[in-house]
Parts: sequence; C-alpha cells; structure tokens
Amino acid sequence: MRRLVAETRVQPAELILPMFVREGGGEPVAISSMPGVEQHTLDSFRRALADAAAAGIGGVMLFGVPEHKDAVGSGATDPDGILNSATRVAAAEIGDALVVQTDLCLDEFTDHGHCGVLDASGRVDNDATLERYREMALVQAASGSQLLGLSGMMDGQVAAVRAELDDAGFIDTAVLAYSGKYASAFYGPFREAVQSSLVGDRKSYQLDPANAREGVREAMLDIDEGADVVMVKPAMSYLDVLAETAARSEVPVWAYQVSGEYAMIEAAAANGWIDRRRAITESVVSIRRAGADAVLTYWAVELAHWLRETA
Ligand code: PBG
Repeated sequence: MRRLVAETRVQPAELILPMFVREGGGEPVAISSMPGVEQHTLDSFRRALADAAAAGIGGVMLFGVPEHKDAVGSGATDPDGILNSATRVAAAEIGDALVVQTDLCLDEFTDHGHCGVLDASGRVDNDATLERYREMALVQAASGSQLLGLSGMMDGQVAAVRAELDDAGFIDTAVLAYSGKYASAFYGPFREAVQSSLVGDRKSYQLDPANAREGVREAMLDIDEGADVVMVKPAMSYLDVLAETAARSEVPVWAYQVSGEYAMIEAAAANGWIDRRRAITESVVSIRRAGADAVLTYWAVELAHWLRETA
C-alpha cells in the first residue's frame, strides 16, 4: 500500500555520479574523507564508467585533478589536460548510454584555488574569468561533453558560455547552471578530493547561507541567460531554496548532494549510529520530494542497484 501511494519515486535515470580523474599513472587514490570514493586513474575510470552505464544512471559529472597548477588554470583549456582527456574517454566509451557532463570551473586548475583568475589586488576578476570560461567551454564541447556544469558562480557566466558555444556551432551542447550555490562548509571533503589549493573562502562569489530569495533569483537570472538546467547546491540544508526554485523554474531543477553530506552519512553509518542504506535512500528521496528532477550524488551507482532490487 505504501508503495502504491508513494508521492515521490526515485529512478536510476535521475541520478548523476560525480567522478574524479587524476593525471599521471599509478594506482587510484582513496579520498579519506569520502570513504568509497576515489581519484581514478584513466584505467579505473574506464571500469567505473562501465559500471555506471550498467547501473542505468542518467549521467556522470567529471572533475579533473591535474598534476600542475598555475595562476590562470592553463590545464583547464589544454585539450590534453586531464579533464578534457577523461571527457574524450567517457564520450567514446559510454557517451551513447549516459550524459557526459563536465565541471566548468577553474578551481581544480589554479594554484590559488579560486574559481576564477585574480586581478592585481588578488580579488577574483569576474569578467576576465568569463574569458577563460568561454575557452573552457569550447575545449570541453570539442572533447565530447554534452552538458557543461558551470559551477564557478561568476556573474554572466551562462550568457557568455552560451554565446561562445552557439558562435562555434556547438548548438547541441547544453548548459547546467549551478545557480543557487552557497558558500558552504559542506564542500570540505571535496577540497581533499581535488587537492584544492584554496586559502580563505569563496564568499566574494558564492551565496550567503542566510539568503533564500537570492538563490531563487540567481536561478531566474540564469534561465534568462539561457541555462538548460539550474541547480541548487548543497542539497540537504537548502531544500527550501530547492522547493521554491522548482516552483518557479521553467527548466529542470537539479540538486547536488555534496561531499560533506556524503561524508556525514558515511561516518555516522561506520560508527553504527544510523542505518546506512536507509539514511542514503531517505536523503535522496527527500531531495527529490523537495523538487529536484535529478540529483548529483556520490551514491548514484549503489543507489541505482538498490532501486532495481526493490522495483
Ligand atoms: C567547484 C565545485 C565545488 C564542488 C563542485 N564544484 C567546490 C567548491 O565550490 O568549493 C563541491 C562538490 C562537493 O562538495 O561534493 N568546481
């Protein structure tokens, strides 16, 4: 009876797996603050892609972990940089089965760790960063990314990238705007995952956790600029922003269950303090219930298998 009257269902096709791929050979590297998640080598990445495709999830979101960083994040626009190389691999191996998506942001590639380039005084330079994002968009699209995840929170980034893609003929490459992206402590483990060099915080470009209207407004602006999908991030502490965005949006609304949300549940479960499977399932159902059409979650593949078992 409960299954029959359930208001919210989660399906594998609505889950997106974020993945980290590191430059250089060797073995995959475990991320200590995210047990079960690793920085892949290209070999282990290929295997994980096959698993993701077999699980029938909706897509993968790729992040690169480069060997070298510099002030402008050159690795991000190098066609042979790790993210673009990994994108070509994913497009070739599973591009027909899953939507290959890429993080379009400079923070993994800059030696100062910010999402943009800096001006002479050390502040993030919004408009100079847009030029770098335009270049990144072209390289990512040419590498086979089907959906560009604009996570840098620069003003005008959606319009800039959309115009650049259209001018170059990449009219089928879609744009996912991380619109309501908050300056959150819950990104902590991600910073280990990508070996972030950041000192300080991102408060000059990410949103204040105290503000809900502002998050919704950012989504409306991004839709006007041409976003195909808008996102709220993190998920669990921002379900109100998610619900309001979903009520007002004319495009799909996604949510990102971030590294800290993952780490908290894994840590509590490892201590025997909560039931791992129930907590994971409940967290993702709740994000769907609040209005997310799809969810980025590090549990995407495992959860997809569970959903199959109980379907
Ligand atoms: C920026 C980016 C971040 C995350 C996704 N894209 C980090 C940040 O803004 O500090 C965080 C994801 C997570 O915590 O799981 N490229």
